[in-house]
Amino acid sequence: MKTALYPGTFDPLTYGHIDIIGRASALFDRVIVTVAKNPKKTPLFTAEEREDMIREAVKSWPNVTCEIFDGLLVQFAKDRQATALIRGLRVISDFEYELQMAHVNRRLAQEVVTILMMPGEKYTYLNSSIVKEVASFGGDIQSFVPPFIAEKIKIKLIQK
Ligand code: COA
Repeated sequence: MKTALYPGTFDPLTYGHIDIIGRASALFDRVIVTVAKNPKKTPLFTAEEREDMIREAVKSWPNVTCEIFDGLLVQFAKDRQATALIRGLRVISDFEYELQMAHVNRRLAQEVVTILMMPGEKYTYLNSSIVKEVASFGGDIQSFVPPFIAEKIKIKLIQK
C-alpha cells in the first residue's frame, strides 16, 4: 500500500491543486490531501472549511482522503505510513523553495521522498491568493475554482 501526502494550505483549493491530486491518485494507492492550519498565512477559510471543500471536490476519487494537520509534516507522514510528499511545481520560481523544503524534510526523515509534479500548463499562473484577490474585486473566478468553491468565496468575502 503506497501512501502519499499532498500538503498545502489550500485557502482555497483551486483547479491547479485538483489537477495535481488527479495525477497523484493515479500513481499511489492512497493520497491524503493534508490541510495545514498555517496561521502564518491568516487564511480566509478555517481549516475545517478548507477540509470540507476538499472532501467535496475529491469525492470522485475513492483513494483520496483529506485530513487537517498541525505540526511537523514528516511526523504526520510517518504517523500515516506515507512514503511520499507530493508538491506542485508550477514555474521555475517555485523550485528554490520546494528544493529547500525537500532537503529539510529528507534530513528529518530519510524514508519520506518528495515528489514534485507539474500541473497542466493552463494552471501555471494560479495560486490561492490570486483567486481571492480577483474575487474580492468582483472578477470571474469560474475558471480557477469549482463553482461550489466560487460560491463559498463570494459568501465569505461578503461576511468579512
Ligand atoms: N495550483 C495552484 N496553486 C498552487 C499549486 C497548484 N498546483 N501549487 C501550489 N500552489 C499555490 C498555493 O495555492 C499557495 O498559494 P498562496 O501562497 O497564494 O496561498 C502557494 O502556491 C504555495 O502554498 P502551499 O502549497 O499552500 O504551500 P505552503 O507553502 O503554504 O505550505 C506546507 C507548505 C504547509 C506544506 C509547509 O509549510 C509545511 O510542511 N508546514 C508544516 C511544518 C513543517 O513540517 N515544516 C518543515 C517543512 S520544510
